[in-house]
Amino acid sequence: MKICCIGAGYVGGPTMAMIGFKCPDIEVVVVDINEARIAAWNSDKLPIYEPGLLEVVLAARGRNLFFSTDVNKHVGEADIVFVSVNTPTKTRGVGAGKAADLTYWEGAARVIASVSTSSKIIVEKSTVPVKTADAIEKVLRRNCSDPSVQFEILSNPEFLAEGTAIEDLTNPDRILIGGKDTEAGRAAIATLASVYEHWIAKDRILCTNLWSAELSKLTANAMLAQRISSMNSISALCEATGADVQQVSRAIGTDSRIGPKFLNASVGFGGSCFQKDILNLVYICETVGLQSVAEYWHQVILMNDFQKQRFVERVISAMFNTISKKKIAVFGFAFKKDTGDTRETPAIDVCRGLMADGANLCVYDPEVEDKQIYQDLGTEKFEWDHPSPRSAPIPKTAIAISHDAMEAARDAHAICVLTEWDRFKNYDYQAIYDNMVKPAFIFDGRNILDHAKLREIGFIVYALGKPLDPFLQKHYD
Ligand code: NAD
Ligand code: UDX
Repeated sequence: MKICCIGAGYVGGPTMAMIGFKCPDIEVVVVDINEARIAAWNSDKLPIYEPGLLEVVLAARGRNLFFSTDVNKHVGEADIVFVSVNTPTKTRGVGAGKAADLTYWEGAARVIASVSTSSKIIVEKSTVPVKTADAIEKVLRRNCSDPSVQFEILSNPEFLAEGTAIEDLTNPDRILIGGKDTEAGRAAIATLASVYEHWIAKDRILCTNLWSAELSKLTANAMLAQRISSMNSISALCEATGADVQQVSRAIGTDSRIGPKFLNASVGFGGSCFQKDILNLVYICETVGLQSVAEYWHQVILMNDFQKQRFVERVISAMFNTISKKKIAVFGFAFKKDTGDTRETPAIDVCRGLMADGANLCVYDPEVEDKQIYQDLGTEKFEWDHPSPRSAPIPKTAIAISHDAMEAARDAHAICVLTEWDRFKNYDYQAIYDNMVKPAFIFDGRNILDHAKLREIGFIVYALGKPLDPFLQKHYD
């Protein structure tokens, strides 16, 4: 059996590396039009940072796992073609700002149709709007010149999270495969299931119809993000009442119907998926006339925006309503720990909000590349977006980048913790404090630091969803 995956990104790369690693009898080729990305996959400096990924790639690469830019050749030869291209939010035209942009997906489908001389199973790995399989099937059938070639389309959404991709792929909660309830459809599902059965128990492989599989992926991300927005909304209430959001999370998480995961209040959720997939869900609801359902889910994003804005406003008000020309150290820029990915990271909105008020930022992140930070803070937000700190003009001179946390904090008035990197917990905060301007503030947007100890050192600590620092409390009374 030969598998080809179109798209060597955060999903295509690790997912195929795992299949190659676990299935030595299957040849797996990952293809991409991005030459630099493929070159990096063929080197020891992989294009994405993911714990454990290099080991998996090294074990299979050159044996039965290959990375190539020869899209036509490998798609043409494959029995199963995974499509794992990007499906970003549309930035212009009908549905701009909400609908999924399927340009890359359709482009991939046209390539498959044009080079196929044998029948194939086409697997939707990308997250797509419900009913995409229908549209793709039409593109495939109408563009393939050989009438004997059959395409069977399956939906097989990916649930891995960045930073834990290898763990998630090794031991997933479930594999979801959607397909048609026809003889050919059932056979295709069985073939794809047989790939996963190399390392995953049969009872963890769920089979559904196509539309349920497509919609389950959007629903899963919407539900996960909704938990975070719910806790973030409660964090605001905690600050206003003296409750502690971590205590509330623990208390409600012990209810087995709620469960303890994904209840951490934060400066806001980020990542390439949550916002995009909820907007996509909202758009689908609107197009089928379900305005109330659309508004319900849209609120999850509005709450996330509120949380980021609230964080910025609290920094400014705590620092005596002026941060102009003050140096603020930003600890963490990635959207979560253990990744160098900054797509939709809350750090972008927060940094822009602080810069708009005149702060001089010094950003430190262990994995994010400097040019990425400059690009994220230097690119204008699309005009369709609702007003947010990001819309403010960007003074590029206000951004400095450091590769050392201590240096980032030197002569700073404040530290903002925006990513929950483990290393941030273990710094010598006494030494950091000694080098800062006084009063020295810490705004912990992830609640990972020892706040009592920091207060002992002399910091004024603002922790998300926690009772205010006694100093701040006095300031507000
Ligand atoms: P990505 O941008 O990292 O990778 C997509 C790759 O596809 C790019 O390298 C691009 O060059 C390539 N590509 C686009 N069109 C192509 C074509 N016609 N031929 C060959 N290559 C082409 O995106 P990603 O983060 O891997 O996400 C891919 C899909 O998976 C998206 O739909 C996303 O929503 C979904 N998803 C992502 C995650 C995640 O954690 N990032 C998790 C689950 C699902
Ligand atoms: C998410 C889904 O979890 C995954 O199943 C899907 O395949 C892709 O989208 P990812 O975006 O990689 O994965 O990371 P995730 O761990 O879900 O975190 C998303 C964001 O939520 C991060 O910014 C994270 O810091 C934040 N988060 C997560 C919280 O603020 N609080 C939490 O309790 C959990």
